[in-house]
Parts: sequence; structure tokens; C-alpha cells
Amino acid sequence: MTLSLEEQARLTAGATMWTTGAVAELGLREVAMADGPMGVASGKIDEREVSILTPAPVSLGASWDLDLLARVGALVGNDAIARGVDALLAPNVNLARSPNAGRAFEYYSEDPLLAGLCGAAWVRGIQSTGTGAVAKHFVCNDSETERDTMNAVIDDETLRQVYLLPFELACEAGCAGIMTAYNRVNGDWCAEAAHALSIVRDEWQYDGVLMSDFFATHSTAATLNAGLDLEMPGPARFLGAKAADAVAAGEVSAERVADAAERVMRFARRFGGDKTPADLDANTLLTEAAVAGMVLLRNDGLLPLAADLPTIAVIGPNATAPCYQGGTFARIAVTPDAPTPLAAIEAEFAARARIVHEPGVDPQPRLPAMPVVPALDLGDGCTEGMTVEYFTGHDLSAAPLTRETRATNSLVWFHGVHEQTRFNEAGAVRARGWYTAPASGLHRFYVGATGPVSLWVDGVDVVARAEQPAASDIMGVLKAGDAAHADVALEAGQRVAVEVQFRFAPARAQGLWYGVRAPDTPDAMLARAVEAARAADAVVLMLGETADASVESKDRADTRLDAGQLRLAEAVMAANPRTAIVVNVGHAFDANFAEGAAALLVAWYPGQAFGTALADVLAGKREPGGRLPVTLARDEADYPAFSLKPAANGDLAYGEGLLTGYRGLRAKGIAALYPFGAGQGYTSFALGEPRVDGGAIRLTVTNTGNRTGSEVVQAYLAASPFALVAHARVTLAPGESAEVMLRPDSRVLRSMAGMASVTIRVGRSAEDVPLSVEFRLG
Ligand code: BGC
Repeated sequence: MTLSLEEQARLTAGATMWTTGAVAELGLREVAMADGPMGVASGKIDEREVSILTPAPVSLGASWDLDLLARVGALVGNDAIARGVDALLAPNVNLARSPNAGRAFEYYSEDPLLAGLCGAAWVRGIQSTGTGAVAKHFVCNDSETERDTMNAVIDDETLRQVYLLPFELACEAGCAGIMTAYNRVNGDWCAEAAHALSIVRDEWQYDGVLMSDFFATHSTAATLNAGLDLEMPGPARFLGAKAADAVAAGEVSAERVADAAERVMRFARRFGGDKTPADLDANTLLTEAAVAGMVLLRNDGLLPLAADLPTIAVIGPNATAPCYQGGTFARIAVTPDAPTPLAAIEAEFAARARIVHEPGVDPQPRLPAMPVVPALDLGDGCTEGMTVEYFTGHDLSAAPLTRETRATNSLVWFHGVHEQTRFNEAGAVRARGWYTAPASGLHRFYVGATGPVSLWVDGVDVVARAEQPAASDIMGVLKAGDAAHADVALEAGQRVAVEVQFRFAPARAQGLWYGVRAPDTPDAMLARAVEAARAADAVVLMLGETADASVESKDRADTRLDAGQLRLAEAVMAANPRTAIVVNVGHAFDANFAEGAAALLVAWYPGQAFGTALADVLAGKREPGGRLPVTLARDEADYPAFSLKPAANGDLAYGEGLLTGYRGLRAKGIAALYPFGAGQGYTSFALGEPRVDGGAIRLTVTNTGNRTGSEVVQAYLAASPFALVAHARVTLAPGESAEVMLRPDSRVLRSMAGMASVTIRVGRSAEDVPLSVEFRLG
């Protein structure tokens, strides 16, 4: 049976926030989607809906281990099946073009081949369970500043060879769909980018579904004619029924709408049916994956920690407040059972060492938590959090429609998804709780929302935001999370009533966030940390960021860790040179501060197994297996792309062209502080002479150390652009040798078409390529 034009048109828009339309006559049900990539995000962005949190893509990229990526993808597929989700809005195969990119933790690498291989492996893994993967955000959404208007200006060769390459690999892996981005590229909205979309549809012959990012459509005819198939979310705004009108008006061909509908139906046939969970043990795999991504950059022998250390000081805010992820819509509610790094280290070392802990600085989240007890006992067993009440209209003296207790400092609601009140009509939310001051002094209260909001302490209006944010990037306003603040003097033990009043205008999404910071005593905290460091036999110093360092719609301004943390690092290293620094960040950062440390380990955002994995690495039970997926430059000026602020006309020039990341440093003869691909384990390796064997390069790798470990052998095209063409990971016992095979990627070599042969350099990082071989093309 064939569908009528109207039925086909209906399929070109989502039915609800997270689903496509169903076609009952054809036995096709709707496809249920959820946000990724670190796991299956709650469609309600609700802290009570816990799911598995895998390492962030930057951490998975650091593993350079494609088999592992496939298994992690399959694990996410299992969780999707458990939650009734058919397809995940992931992987994110944009590139870490600048270390300041707000969502860099969601990207695998600065290198297009590594990012593409990782994304493709993850796609194969998740789709092996019957769960679809929608690669995003197509294309040049490598930054967040003004993302809903920014225009990436890029030449065609760079577009294809750098920014489209990861999508090409994801398509070859058969990804279920591609999501277009918010921004524009060379003048066209990504949802209307006919040139880029024709490469996908015509050149790559991709037959999956092409869908918009959420609320990122701007037109009917131009969008359909460019090749977009599905507007998300539903209900329809520009597509849906309007697609049929556009056919009637002669603006869009009937064939195009039929093709779009067919692609949506193919999506449903492929992924709206039976699923097959993979046979995987979640905890084992999550620990393996977290360890595999940890990159050891310096080590004078302090790590692994000797078994006979009497006292180990675990210092730093991230020991008890680990940063697991950024603040995007893909945020996962993490299991409360995940041990903090401090708890896991205590469990691992308790029998043989005394563990002492000092935070040294406040964890300094931009938006601190709101540790209150509910104003009302709703009989729901919740003893923490605010009593949240919902109203129609702005009158808070009216009876609330409903009440709930919410133990979070950030609430999000979507019209059509959340039922507490009607969020697309004027309404209000009131949140109330009791706060007990832990110390005497000025307490800083924070509040923000997607509309006028005020925060009251004991009946006094202490801070308010009056503005109504523009609706054009409501998702971005929500995730940027800007808050106003005011200080209130409280005595230790004083109990005060905190009340937040939020009156909103009709919108498709609403959000409210708040927090309180107890008085800081930075000098005393620092002094205690220094004293603990001095008295210990070794120090593990855990620095890093909080979730609000990485958000949608906002990039960072620089690569430095928080100033208080840098001061802490300096003082701790001076007090005890036997300091191993663990950095818990989601992107390239300024590592100069750690040059005096005995060891430097980059943990990234390693997922819910962070604590267990780190304890295993410190104790030497496992080897940190990662290699840098991004360059850590010596100087911010060395990054080929740094500032992400578009020009006044909205243009963001991709001026470095093909010379992104390490390629750009190499072209300028600049050495990185820690180059792309760098990292050491707990053993050492020797590389034999490479030789060409058909379409591959082979060489022998020998473990010359005294423990089992892994090496990642890397091959780069020597000509400009100097570019990664292959890598191989190998694990060897002490004294063991094995032959590895590197197969230079034909897509990267496309740029050399016409040449008879090229020189390939082989080694351990982009700056350590001592070996070389001539490789014949064609
Ligand atoms: C993000 C996408 C995400 C979508 C749905 C957008 O704001 O850019 O990555 O998939 O929201 O949550």
C-alpha cells in the first residue's frame, strides 16, 4: 500500500519531543529517541531517572581502541533497550577544533580520522543491539558561541577532508541517521545546506534519515529541497502538513516528500523493531574503558604508588566532587552507588596506607548546589531538596496544580513532555526549602531561569532577575545557565527559609536553577592542604572542573584551570615533590602548571567508574592506556584555532583550513607541550623497522620493560598536511614482540591523488615519528 501525500508529509516532522510519527496501516510504530552520547539521557532531564554513564567521547577517543569503542556503544545499546529507546542522538563527531569549544568533551578528537574511526566503531557497537545511532551535528558545529546564528566560512577541500570525514565514516558504518546543526555553513542554515547535504545523499549514497537538531529548522521548501527528511522535535513547525502545502504550491516535488517519508519509514523498519542486547558486564567494561582513556603524560616513577607508603594525601576538590560530564541536554543522572575517587582510593589502600584528604579549594562550581530540606513533607520519602509547586498563571497565592520534591539545583521542563503545568502558557513555579548555614559569614545565593525569577531568604527578596530571555535559542539559554547572585549574612547553625519564585511566559521549554555557596575560607583551606601534603609520603592531587565548565551555547575563554586550583598545585608541589597530579577535564588545557609534578595523569571525564578505575591505576593493578586525542599546546597562541567568537556579521572563519590541531603546529614548526598521540604506560617499548606489505605497513613492537602494557603505534602522512593515516594498539607481556599492521586510510590519502607514492612516518606521537617508509598509492 502507498501512503497519500498528506500521510507522507506527516512523517516529515516528529510526533512528539522524542518520537517520529507511526504508520499504523503499515505496522510501523514510532521510533523513540533519547539524547546521547555518554549514555541514554532522560527525556525528562530528570535527576531521578538514573542510567549508565560511560566515559565521555574525549576519554574514549584517548583510548585509540576501536574494539573498546564498539563494546561501549553496545553497552549503551543495552541500556537503551532497557529504557525502551530505539535510537540515540549520538555520536557527536564534530571536532575539537579549539580547546575552548564548550562541547569539546563530547568530541572524540581534534583529528578527523581518529574522530571518524571512533564514531564509526561506536555506531557499529550500538547498532549491533538493534538500537540506532544518529551522528551529529552536521556540520561545522565545532563551537557554541552564537551557535543558533553563527556562519562557518570554510573552503570546500577543508569541509570535505576535515569536517565531513567523520560523518563519512559514520555513514559507511551504516548509522541510522544524521542530525543537522544549529549554525550556518557558507551562508546556509545547516538544515538547508544543499551542497553539504548533497554530498551525503548523492556522493555517499547515504540512505538513512537526515533530521534537524531540536528547533533548528527555518523554512519548509528550502529545507525539503536541500534534502532534510525529518524536523525534530514534534509537533511540526515548518515540515509536517506544510510539506504537502509546499507540494501543492509547486515549491517542492512530490517525489521529494515521498523520499523523505520513505527514509523516515526505513528508520522505523530498521530500528523500531526487535532488539538484541549484547552480552556485556557493565561494571567490568566501564572500569576497563575509564582506565583505557587515562593518559599518563609524566612519571618519574612515583606511579604506580609503592605498596609500602605509610601515608597518602589525597588533595583537591575533584577527589570528592568528580566532574563526570558537561551540562548539556545529554546529561546522565549518575547512579548514587558510583564511589567518589576518594572513596575508591580509601577502599583500595586502606589495608596498607593511611589516607588523608583535604579539598584545598572550594570545588567552585559556577552554580553551587542547594543543600536544603523540603519545606513540606509530601510523603514521598524525600528528605533532601526543594518542595516544588506548579501554578497556572502568575498568582502564587492560588492553589498549586501539583507539588513534588526535587533534589537538584537545576530543573528543566518541555512543553508536551512535562505535565506538571502547561509550559506553553503563562505559569509559575515556586520552590521552597530550609537551609542551615554550616558556618558564619556571607552566604552567596544564586538564581536564574528562562524568565523573571526571584529568590527570597526568610521572606526577604534578596536577588532577582527580571529579564525575559529571547526565545531564539531557548535550549542554549537553558544550558548556559547564567545566574544572578547576592550575599546574605548568616550565623553558623542558623536555619532560614529559602523560596524561589519563577513566573514564566509561554515557551516550548522552561528552566529554573539556583544554589548557595557557604562562606569561603580559601587561605585556611590551602594551609590545611599544604600541611597534609607535607606530612604525607606521596600526594595524589585531584584538580579539574565542574559540569558547568562545558555547556551548550557557550565556549570557554581560555585553557587554564581555576586560579585557586593553580595556587593549590604550586603550594602542594612545593610542600611535597612526590605529587601525582590527576586532571579531571574534558578538553585540551594548559598543563604548564604541572611541569614540576612527579606524575601527571589526565583522566578526562571517565564515566561512572572513575573512582574504581583511578584507584586501580594508582595501585598499579591496571595500566593507564590512553594517548592524547588532542594537542596540549605550550602557549594558547599556538593553537591553530583558538577564539570562537564570530565576527560582527556572524561569520566564523575556518581560516586554518586543513592545518587543524597538531597539523597546524607542525606546519609552523611549533612543538607542543604534550603532542597529539602522546602518552606513556607503566612499561617501555621498542619499534622495529617498518616495511610495506601490499596496502599495509608492518613493523615489530617489543615490550622492553618488566610489566605487561600497551603501545599505540601511529602512522602519519609526511607531506603537508601532516596527517594521521593509521594506528594500531598492541598489548604485550614483558619481553614479548608482535608484528602490528598499519593500513593507511584511503580517504585521508585522497588529497595525494596523482602521486605515485608518499612518505609515511611512523612512531608514538605526532612529534615522535622517527621511522619512515615509502608507500605506493593506487
Ligand atoms: C543539542 C543536541 C541534542 C538535542 C536534543 C540540542 O540542544 O544540540 O545535541 O541532541 O538538543 O536534546
